[in-house]
Amino acid sequence: MNFNSLQPSIKTIISSNKTRDEKLFAICQFLNQNVPYYNWVGFYFANHETKTLHLGPYVGAATDHTIIPFGKGICGQVAESNQNFVVPDVQAQDNYIACSLTVKSEIVVPLFVNGKNIGQIDIDSHEIDPFTKEDEIFLEFVNQQVALLF
Ligand code: SME
Repeated sequence: MNFNSLQPSIKTIISSNKTRDEKLFAICQFLNQNVPYYNWVGFYFANHETKTLHLGPYVGAATDHTIIPFGKGICGQVAESNQNFVVPDVQAQDNYIACSLTVKSEIVVPLFVNGKNIGQIDIDSHEIDPFTKEDEIFLEFVNQQVALLF
């Protein structure tokens, strides 16, 4: 996967004449359409008072998990750890919230604005173990661009 070639389109979306949620949705669509193993792409945003994550724009199958407590599942753990979380095989995870039986792996990368973890990008794949360090570096770039919207 040549992630460098995808970077200009992310910047174009960020600087486009759309609302923030429209831009986030456009990024989800772009990633879903251009990375074959990105089958569900969405953003969660943190409420630090209630210690919950709230689903924002996403592309892929509808999910029941629109609110996730900090600490629960992969997403909830990233809300507390502030670290990328790559799960090569979701069946091997204890603290995992299943959305669909078709999901085999997941990557979650936190979104920092002025050093604060305000949410995350969450990607599910139907393939086992598709994510590499390149995905992490690319998604960190995506989130650095998204942070400019806040
Ligand atoms: N699997 C996630 C829940 C969110 S869905 O993937 C959309 C988790 O364990 O946190």
